[in-house]
Amino acid sequence: MQLSSLLCGTGNGFIVLLSVSLLILSSFIKTVSASLFDDVLQALESLVDCASCHAALVPLQTLAFQGDDAFDTVFIEICDALQLEDPDVCQGTFTSIGPIIAHDLRSISVTGETAGRLCDALFGFCSSNVSTPFTVPLPPPKASAPTPSGPPSKRREPFQVVHISDVHIDRQYTVGAEANCTKNICCRNFPDQAGHNITEPAEPNGNHNCDSPTSLADSMLEVVNDINPKFIIFTGDVVEGATWLVDQPEVTNDLEDFNAQLLLKVKTRIFPSLGTDSAPVNAFARKTSMTANDSQWVFDTQAAGWEQWIGRQGSEEVQHDSGSYAAPVPGTNLVILSINTQYWYKQNFWLYDSDEFQPDPNGILAFMVDQLQAAENAGQKAWIIGHIPLGKEDTMEDQSNYYDQVLQRYKDTIVGHFFGHSHKDQFEIAYSNYEEQTAANAVSVALIGPALTPTSGNPAFKVYDVDPDTFGVMNMRVIFTNTSDPSFQIEPKWELFYDARQTYGPLVGLPDNSELTPAFWHNLTEVFERNDTAFQLYNTFLTRGVLVVPCDEDCKATTICDQRAFRSENNCDTPTGGAVSIGRRDIDDASSLPLKEDDECEGSRIRSLLLEMRAKAQGR
Ligand SMILES: *[C@@H]1O[C@H](CO)[C@@H](O)[C@H](O)[C@H]1NC(C)=O
Ligand SMILES: *[C@@H]1O[C@H](CO)[C@@H](O)[C@H](O)[C@H]1NC(C)=O
Ligand SMILES: *[C@@H]1O[C@H](CO)[C@@H](O)[C@H](O)[C@H]1NC(C)=O
Ligand SMILES: *[C@@H]1O[C@H](CO)[C@@H](O)[C@H](O)[C@H]1NC(C)=O
Ligand SMILES: *[C@@H]1O[C@H](CO)[C@@H](O)[C@H](O)[C@H]1NC(C)=O
Ligand SMILES: *[C@@H]1O[C@H](CO)[C@@H](O)[C@H](O)[C@H]1NC(C)=O
Ligand SMILES: *[C@@H]1O[C@H](CO)[C@@H](O)[C@H](O)[C@H]1NC(C)=O
Repeated sequence: MQLSSLLCGTGNGFIVLLSVSLLILSSFIKTVSASLFDDVLQALESLVDCASCHAALVPLQTLAFQGDDAFDTVFIEICDALQLEDPDVCQGTFTSIGPIIAHDLRSISVTGETAGRLCDALFGFCSSNVSTPFTVPLPPPKASAPTPSGPPSKRREPFQVVHISDVHIDRQYTVGAEANCTKNICCRNFPDQAGHNITEPAEPNGNHNCDSPTSLADSMLEVVNDINPKFIIFTGDVVEGATWLVDQPEVTNDLEDFNAQLLLKVKTRIFPSLGTDSAPVNAFARKTSMTANDSQWVFDTQAAGWEQWIGRQGSEEVQHDSGSYAAPVPGTNLVILSINTQYWYKQNFWLYDSDEFQPDPNGILAFMVDQLQAAENAGQKAWIIGHIPLGKEDTMEDQSNYYDQVLQRYKDTIVGHFFGHSHKDQFEIAYSNYEEQTAANAVSVALIGPALTPTSGNPAFKVYDVDPDTFGVMNMRVIFTNTSDPSFQIEPKWELFYDARQTYGPLVGLPDNSELTPAFWHNLTEVFERNDTAFQLYNTFLTRGVLVVPCDEDCKATTICDQRAFRSENNCDTPTGGAVSIGRRDIDDASSLPLKEDDECEGSRIRSLLLEMRAKAQGR
């Protein structure tokens, strides 16, 4: 059973809970609770479109005005009554995320655009009603701009760069603890499991039901060190998935522990990015927030932890520019621009705390423009690294569009884009004209890293061969460890999973010495269209050969559409209210339904789950 699309990137059951409540019978509700929230539930039951979602926010807002406790309590009670999650998960999820949503509801008009955005984030409604056109202020290109293609390759020996992502290390991973539990991650001693007989004891190096033990991360970092790359990029997410429990001390410790582990194990320079790690998870308040709950402590922790790799100036930027920084790769003409993508992420519920539209929360886009302009002036090239790729349904269409404007302006300076978050081995292509998606119009490509955490596939990382003059990617190899191999629990063996040039090059007709250009990736999508064997290979690669989700013709069309969507407005995902995390028992119960679990096909996946939950509720 694959859990990836449910587990990666976010971690609250709020969406599922609210969504399911519209499906359950009102007679059942009345046994659960007092009349206080009958109105709320009726409204939720009536949710069918954007307009009914705006209407549903009215009783939710009334409830929010009764206070955070009242707001959380209602949802915890429903969560418990429906047994959507274990009681500790219901409790922890709503006491952490609930107050932010209640605060939002008290701060906005239920008929406004922000309310529409909240509807999109919570329920997947209104996404087509809420994008705001905006022109990013951009300095004009210099008349004497460098030649569009930049310095030519001198065909020198490429250097290696390692890309790691989504390590999600569980510092409480316990060998012998239950690996077959009812929560979204197992292999730790949860208090409510004390005294239970263990059915499947956790082994030393990991399990698909559990986030990474420290030993698995150590094992990967030792192999990375042996590869001796010129540098390492890390595209974020350090903390484990027991999100209902995480608080500021734990997140701080986890971030510090991973920085220390990197320092101890790896001799190379690391360029990291911030992920969703905050408390609660995903929650990064904007500077304009009227409450004091910002994430400055995350920026301070990483400014201190990263300084040894990114320098004093980079560290100060992390601290003062909300976690983003630019740092040169010593001895090269390449700059790493690391950006905090959380202010564009729909599941950051702090983004809905005002009716005033902010095109560039915390000035991340302005920071990018400044840094890219400086690089252009200096004749440097830039790689952009960040956690969340811009093309998926979980990213705001607004900032995704504005980012694309920056990309188009600086397309000759930006020679690489690298992200994580999906836990899958994917790519997204940007076009100079999205109406005409051709090889000639492909201007950039984002390479998305696989994850270390075994929850979404076999643990893996990427190695790039990079041209030392153009900084273009010549080849990409995925290195993985097979959790089913008998040696895995003794000592994980890391080996080549596939080599992009060898596997895809002949299918596309890639000439020797040619980079894996945006045009190459576009042509590969055309190969996928006509050669289903090649496409199915890609589908297997997503999760490194395990937990593979069958992808039929519809799913394939969506997947290819999404590969051609650097901007989220161009993807073909069905809005679903974002990725959600729910209890293992619900997933197991849903096993009799046809499942499509890839995130590109998430719409039908979520629907299957909701249908199963309705059946469960009606069966009572
Ligand atoms: C949302 O957009 C759709 C399609 O453009 C439109 O039919 C609908 O009336 C809009 N709903 C609201 C509440 O604005
Ligand atoms: C903000 O933080 C304070 C102090 O930790 C807490 O009391 C308050 O409930 C938080 N507010 C929200 C909306 O989370
Ligand atoms: C655990 O297993 C033992 C031996 O099979 C049994 O006697 C006991 O009742 C079980 N305990 C629980 C909590 O299931
Ligand atoms: C996992 O737990 C469930 C329910 O607790 C049980 O039915 C199932 O047999 C267990 N699976 C394994 C592999 O032990
Ligand atoms: C992509 O395909 C087009 C059309 O077949 C071809 O002209 C172009 O050379 C190809 N580009 C790459 C990089 O493979
Ligand atoms: C289709 O892809 C498969 C797998 O990569 C490859 O073996 C086969 O030669 C391709 N077929 C054609 C007609 O290119
Ligand atoms: C992983 O190992 C299992 C058991 O040896 C094997 O069946 C499977 O094919 C391997 N997976 C990959 C991707 O090599």
